[in-house]
Amino acid sequence: MERTLVIVKPDGVQRGLTGEVIRRLEQRGLKVIALKMLHVSRELAERHYAVHKGKPFYEPLIEYITSSPVVVMVVEGKAAIRVVRKTVGATNPADAEPGTIRADYALEIGRNIVHASDAPETAEAEIAIWFRAEELCPYERSLDTWIYEG
Ligand code: RTP
Ligand code: MG
Repeated sequence: MERTLVIVKPDGVQRGLTGEVIRRLEQRGLKVIALKMLHVSRELAERHYAVHKGKPFYEPLIEYITSSPVVVMVVEGKAAIRVVRKTVGATNPADAEPGTIRADYALEIGRNIVHASDAPETAEAEIAIWFRAEELCPYERSLDTWIYEG
């Protein structure tokens, strides 16, 4: 099982797409094991996007993610990191495959609705940035035998 961090960014929350994002992930069989809404501080934004510091889009990105509340969650499942990235679609919505969240709901790279961790190391680091250990709520789901072969 893998865990990944998903953020419904300010545009997703403002446009009323929080439920739609969660629905699509749950519908695939993924399990939400932590969830909260918050207004992102500049400090938190800088920690989350540290890898992008110095890039031309860094300042607009920090402004965007701190501009209005986000909904952040930990999503668990087999190959969850890859599966969620595929469900979210390419970074630039103009390049995203139809049927992905970004293709279905967005047009521009700077307003692309969702964040999803891109690798096991980044997922672990990002989950630790956004959640305290006691905020995670792992639980058994009896329906998992109908989602996973073994
Ligand atoms: P995310 O981190 O949000 O899941 O997106 P990603 O992995 O697909 O893209 P990443 O390269 O990590 O970039 C993080 C976010 O920065 C904004 N961005 N703008 N204007 C640009 O060229 C540009 N490039 C990236 C996007 O909001 C992207 O999601
Ligand atoms: Mg990224």
